[in-house]
Amino acid sequence: MAKCSIDQVSVKGKRVFVRADFNVPLDGGRITDDRRIRLTLPTIESIVNRGGTVILASHLGRPAGTGYEASESIEPVSLHLERLLNRPVRIAGPTPTHPQTAQTIRDAAAGEILLLENLRFEKGEKKGDPAFAATLAQYADIYCNDAFGACHRTDASMHALPIAMAGKPRVAGHLLLRELRYLQGILDAPKRPFIAILGGAKVSDKLLALRNLLTRVDAIIVGGAMAYTFLKAQGMAIGKSRVESDLVGEALLILNEATAAQVPIHLPVDHVCGESLVESTPTRVCHGDIPDGWMGLDIGPDTVSAWQRVLSTAGTVVWNGPLGAFETTPFEVGTFTIARTVAALAQAGSIVVAGGGDTAAAVSLAGVDGQFSHVSTGGGASLELVEGKKFITLDALDEAPAVVTVGV
Ligand code: 3PG
Repeated sequence: MAKCSIDQVSVKGKRVFVRADFNVPLDGGRITDDRRIRLTLPTIESIVNRGGTVILASHLGRPAGTGYEASESIEPVSLHLERLLNRPVRIAGPTPTHPQTAQTIRDAAAGEILLLENLRFEKGEKKGDPAFAATLAQYADIYCNDAFGACHRTDASMHALPIAMAGKPRVAGHLLLRELRYLQGILDAPKRPFIAILGGAKVSDKLLALRNLLTRVDAIIVGGAMAYTFLKAQGMAIGKSRVESDLVGEALLILNEATAAQVPIHLPVDHVCGESLVESTPTRVCHGDIPDGWMGLDIGPDTVSAWQRVLSTAGTVVWNGPLGAFETTPFEVGTFTIARTVAALAQAGSIVVAGGGDTAAAVSLAGVDGQFSHVSTGGGASLELVEGKKFITLDALDEAPAVVTVGV
């Protein structure tokens, strides 16, 4: 059942605690990817435009939990929000439980936007401490979870806080509802054929996802360095390609499970190889065995063509993990070409969803992120959904009100 949306509760004259995931990448104080912030704007605007006060809160990085640290301050986020919203966003106090914070919240006017300092300045946040949650609970009349990227964490503001606010409205924001609609929605009721693309460096990161997907999809494409563990399991020579030798047996088991389930696993048939992972390295395309001294760093042209054929009829595509070392030229070609292929599918009516930080970055560098049906803001969280896990952080949120049909 769907969760109650922030749009479905009255916020006029109310203080709304919006737990966002503003854990954004920073380069010397500059935000290098602001999607998590931009996608929270509809929730903030929904509250402000209806006369509510917004109390935004997020963690940022992994501070020690021993109080304010200038280097871990949420300030770059407040400045960025001010630019995007074109209105003031005030940091409420030096730490979330500082007396000044409580005072600022008490004094806030309707329509004002406050931002709590980094939640992880408080030891209780990471520990899921109910006492810390009880303090936060006093700040607001309504709890709104819009932090999809942190839904797999049981930090106090994600789990203990909605429990502490029992009896008050506890709802979902626009970003969270969109993530659940796309990620959970397509896993439960995909348009077929449903094809998963898995990549990235390590099989160990994707074992649970592979097993869950085997019960749901019509085919799985496996690329990236993780493919070499599977190819080794099939007896192929892989040169000095990255491999998890301890998982070769597990990879073979998965290949056998896929055969039994009649779900084809498509592995690369050719490889763009280099002597090392640097831009100027000599390259060659290898079909089948990779000679000693060479490593597979991207899928080859025949693989691209074969996978384009596999994907051509897909009704749904879920993609997690790049298909080559896309950060290093020329090994981005395979990942970018497949990104453009599935973007075109989305434009033609298929549902195409990308999850995971690296995948989102690759899709964005390929210039097609705007053409995907959805690019998730959650790395770990989106992978856990693909693994079939449920988030206990969502349990305390209210269900959407039933639509009552009046008979004639
Ligand atoms: C993320 O970026 O995956 C979330 O914000 C969670 O952050 P964490 O891994 O530090 O808990």
